[in-house]
Amino acid sequence: MPEHTEADVPVLAWDVLRACTMTAVQVGATRVLLVHHDGEVRAYQNRCPHRAWPLERGSLADGVLTCPNHGWSFDVATGRGVDPGDCDLVAYPCRIDDEGMVRVAVT
Ligand code: FES
Repeated sequence: MPEHTEADVPVLAWDVLRACTMTAVQVGATRVLLVHHDGEVRAYQNRCPHRAWPLERGSLADGVLTCPNHGWSFDVATGRGVDPGDCDLVAYPCRIDDEGMVRVAVT
């Protein structure tokens, strides 16, 4: 996961993300995919690196996110490609702040 920066902004309540597991939010001009994974948050660009399909429509099972369009899959803990293995998601720094908000920095 990228390092935390001071340029992050609050985007969603952590309780909301925990309840839905995966959702997309708008951060400036960028659509960001938020994922609850093992008690932590991950933030990725909400575009499949294959043909830019919105990944929020994908399926999530056993820590693997699968794009619904052609089935490319990614490790949600790291953003690394599972199949194919040489195509990673774009990750953004994210954290949960003291007020229970998920914060993301889109760089
Ligand atoms: S657009 Fe995601 S696998 Fe093709």
